[in-house]
Amino acid sequence: MTAVSESVSLERVQEAGVDVALVVVDNPPVNALSWHVRQGLFDAMTQAVADGAQAIVVICAGRTFIAGADISEFGGGAPQAVGLQEVQAAMEDAPVPVIAAIHGTALGGGLEVALCAHYRVAVASAKLGLPEVNLGLLPGAGGTQRLPRLVGVPKALEMMTSGRHVSSAEALGDGLVDDVVDGDVDALRAAAVSFAARAVTEAMPLLRVRDRDDKVADAKGDEQLFADFRASIARKTRGFLAPEYNIRCIEAAANLPFDEGLAVEGKLFLELMTGPQSAAQRYAFFAERAANKIPDIPKDTPLIDVQRVGVLGAGTMGGGIAMNFANVGIPVTIVERDQASLDRGLAVVRKNYERSRSNTAEMVEQRMALITGSTDKADFADCDMVIEAVFEDMELKQSIFRELDEICKPGALLASNTSALDIDEIAAVTSRPESVIGMHFFSPANVMKLLENVRGAKSSDSVVATTMAIGKKINKVCVMVGVCPGFVGNRMLFMRGAEAERMILEGATPAQVDSVLYEFGFPMGPFSMSDLAGLDIGWKEESSSSSTIREILCENGRRGQKNGRGYYTYDPDTRAATPDPEVEQLIKDFAIGKGIEQREISDQEILERLLYPMVNEGAKILEEKIAIRGSDIDVVWVNGYGWPLYRGGPMHWADSIGLAEIVDKITGYSESLGGKHWDLSPLLAQLAADGGQLQTYTS
Ligand code: 3HC
Ligand code: NAI
Repeated sequence: MTAVSESVSLERVQEAGVDVALVVVDNPPVNALSWHVRQGLFDAMTQAVADGAQAIVVICAGRTFIAGADISEFGGGAPQAVGLQEVQAAMEDAPVPVIAAIHGTALGGGLEVALCAHYRVAVASAKLGLPEVNLGLLPGAGGTQRLPRLVGVPKALEMMTSGRHVSSAEALGDGLVDDVVDGDVDALRAAAVSFAARAVTEAMPLLRVRDRDDKVADAKGDEQLFADFRASIARKTRGFLAPEYNIRCIEAAANLPFDEGLAVEGKLFLELMTGPQSAAQRYAFFAERAANKIPDIPKDTPLIDVQRVGVLGAGTMGGGIAMNFANVGIPVTIVERDQASLDRGLAVVRKNYERSRSNTAEMVEQRMALITGSTDKADFADCDMVIEAVFEDMELKQSIFRELDEICKPGALLASNTSALDIDEIAAVTSRPESVIGMHFFSPANVMKLLENVRGAKSSDSVVATTMAIGKKINKVCVMVGVCPGFVGNRMLFMRGAEAERMILEGATPAQVDSVLYEFGFPMGPFSMSDLAGLDIGWKEESSSSSTIREILCENGRRGQKNGRGYYTYDPDTRAATPDPEVEQLIKDFAIGKGIEQREISDQEILERLLYPMVNEGAKILEEKIAIRGSDIDVVWVNGYGWPLYRGGPMHWADSIGLAEIVDKITGYSESLGGKHWDLSPLLAQLAADGGQLQTYTS
């Protein structure tokens, strides 16, 4: 084996009398296309051909094929090296067969490299995809022109606008790979070498994807195909630039010669790469991964081996929480207070499984078989962790944790799904506060990506590390936060809510407030959200005293979407919301009664008053060390509260506006409006003065 660069080496083997060169990439952790990989690939290809190899296999060491361009090189700073296009040309134009041997994930630039081989062989477990769209980008190394030529336009549209990874079997069906091999990377290597030898002995053609047009011919000039596709993803991709740009490139692939299509790709790629959306999305990618790291918890901290999970309460949250574990094959014991509640809860779980189109009847039964219902907490005795999801009531939670302390085996992890209560107060009633932690799931718990883990003062290292690891296992995006009312997400949400309430008394309508947030990119504003959740949560007719707009609405029979009337009126058939003059009058009367003068409020003022208090609160959260990093706060807001990904999160967004400007505005609002949430965070003031950033701040 000869080293060609620090990450690429060259080997020679004989197979059935054929001289095969193996170009091996070894750039852990994911074999990203760093400059030395590109240089090494180019040099190795050139050398293999010069040395007279009759065929070449490109294969990777470690856990995966090339998983894409090196995202950390984007934005400059990396040494100059040969460009990816030159590497690709060296493969595509090689005078001997080139075979890409794929295991793990061939993603982005990695798949684009593989698309320049003449043939592709993959192991059965491999995944392939062009996920650039998730980074606010499009495949910029010819992928937009080559993928449609191999799999056809409809499939390319779906893959590139979703970023979905397809399995080897699916890739084989679509012509994206030529052979699938059972077994591990050694089996792959043997199969790829044997494929290469066959390509020589059978004089197989050196197929260049760029030369093919058969699979794009049908879509040429078919504007309707693209219009229909755009309409089908419009709702999901609202506000994002990258999906549309990916579509335009595929249109070019269908309508233009290869090189002209490539030019379109290059131009649009550059536009995205230098724009704010991709910067935000790339930031979010690294922020999510940084959030997994807890500085004072050593990497080798022993984890609790979680073989069986207990969930207490089968209500809105408990059922969804149980589903997360069953989905990854972990058995769950779910306990309710009585048989009727248990039956109701389990029926909802079953219905949710049945409703999901990706579940076959067999999968539904397999998952349900992993969930055992009970009305006896003693059945938690053999669970390695128990998550409590009963009503939000401190006394109830404490009494339950006393019981869990008696029942659960030593070392079992005891978690609460409380959305705002003090984890330390809950832990204090047990004899093992080191085993207690918060695991704050979001509703619907089987769908929402965020898991806000809440570290108690006494939570042990092992308990902290296990909650993060198990969260990753059930496919959540995890953030570790500290104890304070509302933790990170809800604490900031309260600030936004306070100003929203204020502004409708000052003259903005609920629809205006909601539309400002919707236009910013949130899926909905606070008043639509309240209608969806139900205005009568926690409301009691007998104690209602007309002291808030919400109470007044409930008193007037407006309970939200559930009875078709809330802040809005809802069409019984379509559920479309319409602003209601009756509501506006109720608000006006209430404001007059309170002596509040109504005026016109600009959209800009609404946006600032909704979001700047959140930025301010985020800075206070960092000051208090409730969040580890500014970027963790952004991970919470993007994954749990619908903050538009293409704006990075409140901390990233604040930095992009400029902290000095935000401090000015907060100071002004504090003087004119008052309220604790407008008291300027000293940290924010300091960062603004020093030219610092919130997104890179570490507490
Ligand atoms: N560039 C640089 N670093 C990368 C990277 C990349 N493309 N992909 C992953 N990493 C790093 C991560 O930051 C992480 O670093 P850390 O350990 O220091 O935190 C480490 O590799 C491991 O990553 P994960 O924790 O995500 O590992 P998983 O095993 O969970 O997932 C993966 C592996 C599926 C490959 C996932 O990392 C992934 O989705 N990566 C991004 C793939 C991608 O988007 N590729 C396209 C890049 S853009 C492109 O290619 C442009 C081209 O068209 C020109
Ligand atoms: P829920 O009212 O839908 O469900 C609670 C369930 O607990 C009920 O089915 C009830 O029968 C059961 N229960 C009550 N006492 C019990 C006992 N002693 N033993 C066994 N079961 C008992 O409530 P929800 O919404 O699921 O909330 C549960 C917890 O999750 C609360 O702490 C809440 O703050 C938190 N949470 C709720 C979110 C939401 O959006 N609903 C989001 C995040 C957290």
